[in-house]
Amino acid sequence: MSSTSIQSVLQETRLFPPPADFAEGAKVGSMAAYEALYERAATDPEGFWAEIASELRWDRPWTQVLDWKLPDARWFVGGQLNLAANCVDRHAASWRRNKAAILFEGEPGDTRVITYGQLHRDVQRAANALLDLGVAKGDFVAIYMPMIPEAAIAMLACARIGAPHTVVFGGFSAEALRDRIADSRAKVVITADGGWRRGQVIPLKDNVDRAIEGTTIERVLVVKRCANAIAWHGPRDVWWHDAMAAAAPRHDAPPHDSEHTLFSLYTSGTTGKPKGILHTTGGYLTNAAYTTRLVFDLRDEDVFWCTADIGWVTGHSYVVYGPLANGATTLMYEGAPNQPGLDRFWDIIERWGVTVFYTAPTAIRAFMRWGDEHPAKHDLSSLRLLGSVGEPINPEAWMWYRKAIGGDRCPIVDTWWQTETGAIMISPLPGATPTKPGSATRPLPGIAADIVRKDGTPCGVNEGGFLVVRRPWPSMLRTIFGDHERFVTTYFSEVDGCYFAGDGARRDEDGYFWIMGRVDDVINVAGHRLSTMEVESALVSHPKVAEAAVVGRPDELKGQAIVAFVTPRSGVVANEELAKELREHVVAQIGALARPEDLRFAEALPKTRSGKIMRRLLREIASGSQSRGDTTTLEDQGVLERLASTFAQEE
Ligand code: PRX
Repeated sequence: MSSTSIQSVLQETRLFPPPADFAEGAKVGSMAAYEALYERAATDPEGFWAEIASELRWDRPWTQVLDWKLPDARWFVGGQLNLAANCVDRHAASWRRNKAAILFEGEPGDTRVITYGQLHRDVQRAANALLDLGVAKGDFVAIYMPMIPEAAIAMLACARIGAPHTVVFGGFSAEALRDRIADSRAKVVITADGGWRRGQVIPLKDNVDRAIEGTTIERVLVVKRCANAIAWHGPRDVWWHDAMAAAAPRHDAPPHDSEHTLFSLYTSGTTGKPKGILHTTGGYLTNAAYTTRLVFDLRDEDVFWCTADIGWVTGHSYVVYGPLANGATTLMYEGAPNQPGLDRFWDIIERWGVTVFYTAPTAIRAFMRWGDEHPAKHDLSSLRLLGSVGEPINPEAWMWYRKAIGGDRCPIVDTWWQTETGAIMISPLPGATPTKPGSATRPLPGIAADIVRKDGTPCGVNEGGFLVVRRPWPSMLRTIFGDHERFVTTYFSEVDGCYFAGDGARRDEDGYFWIMGRVDDVINVAGHRLSTMEVESALVSHPKVAEAAVVGRPDELKGQAIVAFVTPRSGVVANEELAKELREHVVAQIGALARPEDLRFAEALPKTRSGKIMRRLLREIASGSQSRGDTTTLEDQGVLERLASTFAQEE
């Protein structure tokens, strides 16, 4: 982007100060307070994080706050705690015993309210049920479930007994589930007969049956949700309700090391194979709890609704662990936002009195397209704060969100983070930070984020560069499961001494961060992270495909859309029918989220002399046909393209 166009964008940018009454009661109530806290954390990071970690309940205190041998960080070394006890037991033993922990609404309209006392009973039984099935500390458990309370209970039960979980999004195909189970070597999978989505049953158990043949899975625990017909393989398959009824009611939470593995979560990198991002107990929980409290200025009377699925990191940190660690009330909704009508979310907000609403720009853009009349039908006055996550939010969507949903009174927190960071890293603080539509504003206290050139020197004002973090933070990923070398090369080899996020960004004259998107071959489609290589691998696994190249193209609704260029094998007729067959093949290999929007046949793909596919050229071809609706995003796109080619240095 040229500096003049940056100026014009910035001049148009309005500044939204926090509402005065909000700032008054806020945990951080002014920019001066933010700056002071940031400075304090920067001067004494270990003291700062130790103070935050001490708000959790530790069974044994740590002997060392941080053991940092680049790139390996261990936090709260020697300390022991139980995550489930922190999220459940300590609240069940307090005045919060009868406070709602989970509010649940199923897509068909069924509802449940689970108090901390009830959650305590359920998690204890579930922990015993897992032990009865032969799950021991250190064994991986796969979770492939709809958004129902049992999913959170299953995660908490795993954490309680020290069995790391690997949650797989219910929208992934049987093939994708199989890859993740094979990589994690999970022993048990927890699933449901089905889940409701757009009035249909997602056949989760059928997918599990197809996925686990020949894997390490010994037992399948099945929650009855939809009462649809399923195949049953006793004694391998066990009903959740039977296992719960047979399990002992009491389970004393054992202490686990701070660095004990809590979960792995698969996410897309630059290769065809998703990587298991590994998080550990003490550091992860410290940051999940801290950020929920600070960024959402959490209050005991809040009804906190993060719309993410538990299959993504946002669901881990802001549906389950962050809110529960703080004794908050978290809302879980099972289904689609347009079922039965386009106002389902607003109806939920009105009926449950949601106060904090956290969703993705793709969803916001869809709501915007559906029209103002849907939120206008509902009383949304319970809302006090709005959040956005997962992709850059264009100023137009930001403004609509503020007006149509927030009634021009709720601050918006645009939160930047990643599966790898475990928790929010860059975000406004709602009582302190004046916001600018489209900017994630400033790093949280304790987070040494910076924007640098390829050689590691800091970028100047408004100069596009690579987003890095200079010092470790407690919820930093510890490794890629089973591939520590890939961890080192992916995150700690690009920029000397720093964690490299894979995003491009710039910082304006107020020090505000503007995230521009990925500089690697990761694409972000409707807030879902995918690797172009992953989709290419799926395409070339089809017998009629000789070669394939996949790129992202800017899309007004989804942020990016998948465009695939395919060279068929000789003798194969390239027609619409084949295109359809290939699209469905990708869906079967990965899931509907990876279906190419546009699939074009090419006799040959453009390559460099060394034989590498010229993705930049393909990206340009792919973007050529799209409408130029949102100029800010597109202008950023130019900088991003240049950064991406600096990063790749291949074309
Ligand atoms: O490119 C950034 C984008 O999403 C990536 C991380 O994806 P994932 O690990 O799936 O986690 C998503 C939810 C935390 C980042 O590298 N991203 C996430 N949040 C933002 C964002 N881009 C711009 N603005 C954001 N607020």
